[in-house]
Amino acid sequence: MTDSFGGIVVEGLARSFGPVQAIRTIDFQAPPGEVTALIGSNGSGKTTLMLILASLLAPDSGTVRVAGFDPVVHPAEVRRRVGWMPDTLGTWESLTASEVLRTVGALYGMSPADRSRRADELLRTVNLTEFGRQAARVLSRGQQQRLSLARALIHDPEVLLLDEPASGLDPGSRLELRTLLRSLAAAGKTVVVSSHVLSELDEIADRAVFVSRGHSVKTQTLDEAGSQLRRYYVQAQPMSALADTLRSQEIRFETRGDSRREEFLVQLGSTAEASWLLRTLVLAGVVVTAFAPAGGALEETYMSLDTDRL
Ligand SMILES: Nc1ncnc2c1ncn2[C@@H]1O[C@H](COP(=O)(O)OP(=O)(O)O)[C@@H](O)[C@H]1O
Ligand SMILES: [Mg+2]
Repeated sequence: MTDSFGGIVVEGLARSFGPVQAIRTIDFQAPPGEVTALIGSNGSGKTTLMLILASLLAPDSGTVRVAGFDPVVHPAEVRRRVGWMPDTLGTWESLTASEVLRTVGALYGMSPADRSRRADELLRTVNLTEFGRQAARVLSRGQQQRLSLARALIHDPEVLLLDEPASGLDPGSRLELRTLLRSLAAAGKTVVVSSHVLSELDEIADRAVFVSRGHSVKTQTLDEAGSQLRRYYVQAQPMSALADTLRSQEIRFETRGDSRREEFLVQLGSTAEASWLLRTLVLAGVVVTAFAPAGGALEETYMSLDTDRL
């Protein structure tokens, strides 16, 4: 009934809604102890996949194991082990933040003392203690996201499925989310987060699964992402001096921007190559005014995917 690998294993998954093929073929693994990012544009099938993993939607075909259990055959076992954070707080908004958590605790069969203790603890974890007695509807979008995350954690699940958890968060809250998710992974949980905004997940995730139009198109660990070819943008005054030096070093570049704010893009294989180029430019007398990676590591992978073929 269970297999030794906890976490999540999905093979050959498909699910349609009438004529709409929300998931065509998804292969996906999320190991315990890591944060796995599910990345794809709107409509690519992320929420559908997460609903299937949470046992809230049945697949048409394929195999799924969550913490060793098949969500179709053993939905209760899966729900006990999974914390699900939907992309909105939903119909809970007339309860106070503390009531939301205690009510869900009751649904999981926790005693009144346990759920009240756990609610206080989680309000502290997500920095909402001062809002415990406030109606959830008066919370800001970011605060509601944090409450929704606390709700997903109430029964201390071993698998966490978080749908777009960083959306609507200010940079400070995003940083806190990152710290919290990293500590949950370090405690051995399986954490899956989805996003259509690549840069949100760059520093949160250990690995990324890219989905496009219902297909999983690539899986990559962040270590792999960090060692791939990466684009840097460079600016100098004047740009012509930069162009001359790049040509003399036989380094190809693309031009981006307009005449008022022009920049060159170069492809470099490693950070060592980047620092070599910067030193070379400076030693050649080029006045470098900007030199930085053009995007995060995941973004570079995404840009390199030929998703149109699918
Ligand atoms: N209940 C549903 N009925 C009909 N179509 C749906 C339903 N849920 C999702 N879809 C469609 O399936 C596709 C994938 O949706 P979704 O999984 O929500 O994508 P994502 O979360 O990546 O934005 C979309 O084309 C969406 O319109
Ligand atoms: Mg979605």
